[in-house]
Amino acid sequence: MDTPNCTKLKTYQGLTFEPYIESDKIKERVAEIGAQITRDCEGTVPLFVCVLNGAFPFASDLIRAVDCDAEITFIRLKSYEGMGSTGKVKEVMGLTENIEGRTIILVEDIIDTGNTIVKLIDDMKAHNPARIKVATLLFKEDALQHKVEPDYVGFNIPTKFIIGYGLDLDGMARNLPDIYVLSEKDKDKENV
Ligand code: IMP
Ligand code: MG
Repeated sequence: MDTPNCTKLKTYQGLTFEPYIESDKIKERVAEIGAQITRDCEGTVPLFVCVLNGAFPFASDLIRAVDCDAEITFIRLKSYEGMGSTGKVKEVMGLTENIEGRTIILVEDIIDTGNTIVKLIDDMKAHNPARIKVATLLFKEDALQHKVEPDYVGFNIPTKFIIGYGLDLDGMARNLPDIYVLSEKDKDKENV
């Protein structure tokens, strides 16, 4: 993927992050996915399930890019600490709605190992929805450790640490409108 020609760097915890995907590009892609979902969900009222915390900006933009009746709800999971997956997915806030017979669209910020999305799909299936679709803004396909194929992908990205537009480093940087990538010069500091 092309790196935008922009020199604005961000620093968190002494690590440098470089611009990676600009907000205009995100907006454009979200509009495309929204149009796709509108077509695919004809005749249904999809329930968007936003996976907190990271997916909230994406879910917020995505639901407004969908031109059909839709609902949204939120669940909260935690698996990352610092820049690495703990391997365990903890449910911090669960679903309260009855999803039987519904079209569910799971909205994730990023699929990395796939641990989170696989656990979620299994949990949802137990409540008998009509169908489950997965929308993820970012997909680190090379890091995937499960057989799972998201239905809607914003951007396929290499296995690099990303922040911004909901994605965080220990709670920080979620508020950045653009997406940033950890600088190659700090790559060796990842997961330490
Ligand atoms: P997975 O369970 O390994 O697929 O990881 C999913 C979760 O890990 C995401 O929802 C994010 O919260 C977090 N995550 C994965 N990669 C990154 C990253 O590059 N930056 C920030 N958070 C990440
Ligand atoms: Mg997340």
